[in-house]
Amino acid sequence: MKTIVFLNNKGGVGKTASATSVAHIIAEKYKKRVLLIDLDPQMNTTSMFDKVDFMDLFLSIYTGEQRKSGKSVEDLLLDKKLDIHECIKKTAYENLDIIPSYITLSECEERLKADVTVPQQFRLRAHLQNVQNEYDYCIIDSSPSINIININGLVAADKVYIPLRCDGYSLLGVAMAMRLFDTVAEYNEHLQIGGMFFTQWNNRANVDKTSYELLNEFFGKYILPVKICVSKNIKECSYMQQPLLDYDKGKNKNKVTLQYIELAKIIIEG
Ligand SMILES: Nc1ncnc2c1ncn2[C@@H]1O[C@H](COP(=O)(O)OP(=O)(O)OP(=O)(O)O)[C@@H](O)[C@H]1O
Ligand SMILES: [Mg+2]
Repeated sequence: MKTIVFLNNKGGVGKTASATSVAHIIAEKYKKRVLLIDLDPQMNTTSMFDKVDFMDLFLSIYTGEQRKSGKSVEDLLLDKKLDIHECIKKTAYENLDIIPSYITLSECEERLKADVTVPQQFRLRAHLQNVQNEYDYCIIDSSPSINIININGLVAADKVYIPLRCDGYSLLGVAMAMRLFDTVAEYNEHLQIGGMFFTQWNNRANVDKTSYELLNEFFGKYILPVKICVSKNIKECSYMQQPLLDYDKGKNKNKVTLQYIELAKIIIEG
């Protein structure tokens, strides 16, 4: 199993759009067995593939009682003895399973810090060892922050992909992601940069060209030969809780779908 993580400290750069689109394309079009993991308490990836029961969510937060809808990545990170299979859910799509996130994942960090019996950075990696032969790809969506939960994603990963929008703050996010990469790469010797790619790209905007030139100057060798354009399909499919390729039913695929198919191909071909 190859494990990849989409990372950028800046919010709204397309981590979730990319993780969900690529995971589904690799499962559906390339017929690989994919395990998608949501490491973000915002649950955006989770709500696309695992129908979220908002009443259950509301009651379990308010009353503190165990949610009915099963275990999440939070349980996995907190309990080193838990069988990972208890957290894996089938999706409606062939070859695609998910470990969902849960809104209280944001509190998990403090609870992890309280337990010093095992290194906190290696928990996800240790659990993933138990499904190495069951999947071809594990694809991780991370949250827009530098925290121990995202570090668990990086420690478990073989490759990091960094999406960015063409603005200054996204570039700052790239710089922070690269620093975090350097730190984790010191003890995860498998970890490599898979590449960086622009999302929400607008060919005509001057700011896009300026950002591109700046990124090219520092990280040129990592820039992937694909740009994801701005497309209303991304917003619509996320609203419809449907992965991009499934939403784009037409014979002639939309430009953004073709770009994500190209990105998936680049990822598979390494
Ligand atoms: N190519 C695109 N064209 C148009 N809208 C897009 C595109 N990619 C992402 N979006 C929209 O931009 C917003 C942010 O995208 P997304 O949720 O994927 O970013 P993110 O990096 O996961 O954000 P966060 O850091 O908050 O998790 C969403 O509303 C999404 O629908
Ligand atoms: Mg996201």
